[in-house]
This record gives sequence, C-alpha cells and structure tokens, in this order.
Amino acid sequence: MADTPKTATLTIGDTTLDLPIHSPTLGPDVLDIRKLYAQGKVFTYDPGFTSTAACDSAITYIDGDEGVLLHYGYPIDQLAGKSHYLEVCYLLLYGALPSAAELEHFETTITRHTMIHEQMHNFFRGFRRDAHPMATMVGVVGAMSAFYHDSTDISDAQQREVASHRLIAKMPTIAAMAYKYSIGQPFVYPRNDLDYAANFLHMCFSVPAEDYVVDPILARAMDRIFTLHADHEQNASTSTVRLASSSGANPFACIAAGIACLWGPAHGGANQACLEMLKEIGTPDRIPEFIARAKDKNDPFRLMGFGHRVYKNFDPRATVMKQSADEVLELMGVEDNPLLQVAKELEKAALEDPYFAEKKLFPNVDFYSGIILEAMGFPTSMFTPIFALSRTVGWISQWKEQLSDPAHKIGRPRQLYTGPTQRDYVDVENR
Ligand code: ACO
Repeated sequence: MADTPKTATLTIGDTTLDLPIHSPTLGPDVLDIRKLYAQGKVFTYDPGFTSTAACDSAITYIDGDEGVLLHYGYPIDQLAGKSHYLEVCYLLLYGALPSAAELEHFETTITRHTMIHEQMHNFFRGFRRDAHPMATMVGVVGAMSAFYHDSTDISDAQQREVASHRLIAKMPTIAAMAYKYSIGQPFVYPRNDLDYAANFLHMCFSVPAEDYVVDPILARAMDRIFTLHADHEQNASTSTVRLASSSGANPFACIAAGIACLWGPAHGGANQACLEMLKEIGTPDRIPEFIARAKDKNDPFRLMGFGHRVYKNFDPRATVMKQSADEVLELMGVEDNPLLQVAKELEKAALEDPYFAEKKLFPNVDFYSGIILEAMGFPTSMFTPIFALSRTVGWISQWKEQLSDPAHKIGRPRQLYTGPTQRDYVDVENR
C-alpha cells in the first residue's frame, strides 16, 4: 500500500491551506511552502534561515544534535581516517567512491591542471604586498573568468566539468602564490611528482635557495585538514555560491563570491580570529577574564572557535582535528608552546563551565585547525585561505548539483518591510 502523503494544515483568517510535507532520507521532515504566497498571500519570516531548507541536496548530511557528518552517507571520521582529499573530492563531485582506475585518472587530471595562466602572475603583482591573502584570492579567483573563457558556459556540461577540475587543481597554487607574494618571496611552481597536500606545502615553504622536503606526517595532516573542510551542507558560503549561481553567473565568479563570504569571522575567518584571541589571552592565568567576557551579555566578545549554528554536540570534525593536532605538535616538538598551552587550558575551562554546557557550545573545527596550522609554520592570515581551498570542492559540487536540476530557479528572498508607507516627494527648498 502506498504511504499516505503527509500534509500540514495552516489556517490564516478564513483561508485554510494544506501544505505538503516531504520526508528526506535522513533528518527532519520538510514543510513545502512554495504555494503559500500564491494561495495565502503571506510570506514566511526566517532571518538567518534557522528553519528553512533552501534546496534539496544528496551530497552532505549533518545531524547537529548527534554530532554526525556524512558525505553521500560516508561518516567524516572514516573518510578522514581511511580516505584522502582527492578521493573525497571525487566522491563529492560524482556521488560515489571511485574505482582504482577512476581515482588514478581523476588524480592525473587534477595534477595536470595545477599551473595557472602565466599572465596571471602579473595580476598578483598588482596587489599591495600587505594585502590579506583572502583579498588577493577573491580577486584572482574572480579573475579566472577573464583567463579561462572556454569553461564559463554553464549550459555546456563539458565546460562545467573543466571548470570544476580547474578550480580544484588551481586553488592551492593561487593560495600559495597569495602567501608568497605577501611575504615578498618568489612564486613556486607546482610539482606533479608530489601529491595534492605535499605540493601545496612545497609551494608555500620552498624557496629557490633551499628546497623544502615535505614531511609525510605534515602532508598527511594537511590532507586531513583539506578533507575535514571539504563540504558542509548549506553553510553561509555554500549558500552564497548557490545564490550567485542561481542567476546564471559563471563558476569562477560564483566561487569568488563563496570565498568572500567565507572570509567573515563568524564563518571561515574564525580560525584566524581564534589564534589572534589565543595570542591576546597570552597566558593561562588570563583565561578566567576572557571566559567572563564571553559570558557577559554587555560585551560583544565571543570565544572564537566555540559554538556552531548546527552542531549542538561535539563537532565530529573537531574530534579528528584534535587527534591530528596532537600528532603535529609532537612532530614539530612544540607541545610546550605557550600559545598551545593557552588553547588546551581554554578548551578545558570552557568545557567545564556551565554557561557553555547549557548553551551547547563546544570547540568547533576552527579551534584545532588554527593550532595545527600555527605549528606547521603558517601565519594566521593563511588560515582562512587554506579553508577556502579545501572548501572549493564542496562549493563546486553543490554548484554542479544545482545546475543539474532543470527546475532550479533564481534565488530571490522576500522581506518583512518596515520602512515608511507611500508618501509624496518634497522639493529640497521645502524640506
Ligand atoms: N562565545 C560565547 N557565547 C556564545 C558563543 C561563543 N563563541 N557562541 C554562541 N554564544 C551564545 C550567544 O551569545 C547566544 O546566547 P543567548 O542565547 O544568551 O543570546 C547563544 O550562545 C546562541 O548563539 P547564536 O549567536 O544565536 O548562535 P548562532 O547559531 O547564530 O551562531 C556561531 C553560531 C556564529 C558559530 C557562534 O557560535 C559564534 O559566533 N561562534 C564564534 C565564531 C566561530 O567560531 N565561528 C566558526 C563557526 S564554524 C565554521 O564556520 C567552520
């Protein structure tokens, strides 16, 4: 017997509406309000989208109460432990784990697209040396549409595919170049004999006078950071990419929009803000003062790296990242670094504090990723660019999924208008 379709009944004045309810494969039911305005002449009001599903998607599932993150059904801890970034990229792009031959072919394709158009080097040189690498990345990635015309036609599946590969392959090169430029060192070309993560570390830390030999433990930790940030459902930057794409904008412009959104301290910028906060705290004896500030309603200060819109339990990525942090700190011999001591003490103090327990504020992925990146030798300004390069595959996969739906529409929210009612214009001399 077929299931009876579920509906919800909404009464507005004299009008009664039956609204369909959709059942997802996982997660809460979704009330379909698409006909609400046409039939009931009301809008829904949900600033911050706390109760709104803006699309349907098969890529990533999060259960924030249980601390679950799945990509096409595979738990993030299994992917971070047993897989690697490029395999996860394949999974996100194509919806299935690759065979050995498919993976080899994909890795070769990505590796062979890592160089950027040589003329783009001049573009980098137009920025001030002290530009934040995220500012450079927003500009350079947006400018890719001026360099790769043959992959901007979104109606052509082949061009969409090429744009996807180009973005995933070139983003580490662009991030590394933004870094090299900011510290006044020459650009380092990608190396095809290194894997994705090792190549990125090499482009960041090698100099012509002295080659940088990539430690496999660091490359593995870097790869894990990429994997843990690869996709995260309809977060702010991904929703920005989808909204930009809904107008038919080209992929490079859409990803540049995602990078811009990610930059904010409430999102990807939190890893930089977290490290800066740890430096400001300075010594463990000052932790109570900062915890008190975070709890004070009259003080806008928040503990950066704590709390999450969706996770009201431990962020499953943070659990893996914490293990990785211990490995890297041991390898680098910096377990006694004062900054890291502050981080450990702060984590302990916050987890024991009833305020954070009651509000379900746990350390998020950015709390630990900043510590690892600091230990690896990255300046704080590179933390968010590394997040951006990791998330590129998520943005691209969601963009691809959106475009593959022939029914997708331009994103156009409405509003609760609070301005003046209609009034007549007054000439300037009469005001
Ligand atoms: N420190 C102190 N109090 C906090 C914190 C924090 N880090 N985060 C939330 N709260 C408090 C709020 O003051 C609020 O208290 P109230 O209910 O008494 O008003 C309550 O917890 C809920 O906070 P909201 O801001 O309503 O939660 P929201 O889901 O909108 O925000 C966010 C989530 C933005 C991540 C928030 O927790 C935050 O600002 N954290 C710090 C920044 C950060 O680490 N961002 C990284 C997010 S993860 C990522 O992008 C990969």
